[in-house]
Amino acid sequence: MMEKRNFMVYVMIVLLLSILAAITASSQEDVTTVQDSAFTDRMRYTVVFLHDDHNDKDEIEDCYVCHHLYEEGELVEDETSEEMECSECHELGNDKNPIPLVDTYHSMCKGCHLKNKAGPIMCSECHVKQK
Ligand code: HEC
Ligand code: HEC
Ligand code: HEC
Ligand code: HEC
Repeated sequence: MMEKRNFMVYVMIVLLLSILAAITASSQEDVTTVQDSAFTDRMRYTVVFLHDDHNDKDEIEDCYVCHHLYEEGELVEDETSEEMECSECHELGNDKNPIPLVDTYHSMCKGCHLKNKAGPIMCSECHVKQK
């Protein structure tokens, strides 16, 4: 009887650990590129973006700076849309002309780099050829 209970406890622990592992695996620590699933035919090299390094180094503490949420046209501070891709809210355009979504990304990324006079603004500094 006792042995059976111990086995169940063991099973529960293993289950909990694998759930934890699954959660960490999909967290932002592993994000090293931006690859919005809305772009099916990419023309440029992959965008390198070492999520946590980038945000630590640049001292961007507020997640909502990028993962923003708006209510009635107003930015809601301290709430994030971190589980969503930008394309879930921002239009792609059409297949032949995905400019609106491209502009959205460029205006957020390059916009902040220009404002801070730091960070890449040349195509090849973000769209990096993979080895
Ligand atoms: C400088 C902009 C920026 C900031 C600041 C930022 N993120 Fe992100 N985050 C991104 C981008 C870009 C992606 C990649 C989206 C994609 O590939 O579609 C991302 C992805 C994610 C993901 C999704 C991981 C996945 O695999 O689906 C999570 C979770 C996340 N960020 C959480 C956070 C948290 C928590 C913070 C604050 C501590 C934060 N982010 C701050 C830009 C940012
Ligand atoms: C939950 C929906 C949602 C998500 C997810 C989202 N946005 Fe937005 N975004 C909005 C709304 C709403 C506005 C305000 C639009 C307007 O001006 O009326 C906006 C505005 C913007 C603007 C113009 C204003 C500004 O803040 O500079 C840019 C650029 C932008 N988003 C880029 C992005 C990028 C890049 C991502 C992904 C990291 C993203 N957005 C994710 C809803 C979203
Ligand atoms: C809120 C401001 C801000 C936003 C938004 C932002 N960046 Fe940056 N980024 C910076 C700053 C500041 C630097 C310069 C850091 C340094 O040189 O110390 C930087 C540097 C970089 C670098 C150089 C290497 C590194 O990690 O420091 C890359 C690549 C980069 N950014 C990509 C992106 C991409 C891609 C996006 C959009 C998804 C983005 N950034 C959005 C502020 C921002
Ligand atoms: C600050 C970083 C940054 C710079 C600089 C930059 N881009 Fe991007 N670009 C992005 C991000 C982030 C995306 C979204 C990537 C994704 O989801 O695959 C993107 C997407 C694109 C796309 C749509 C996806 C594809 O590969 O077809 C094109 C086209 C593009 N950029 C062209 C350019 C060109 C041309 C330049 C130079 C004039 C440039 N970009 C400069 C960050 C940057």
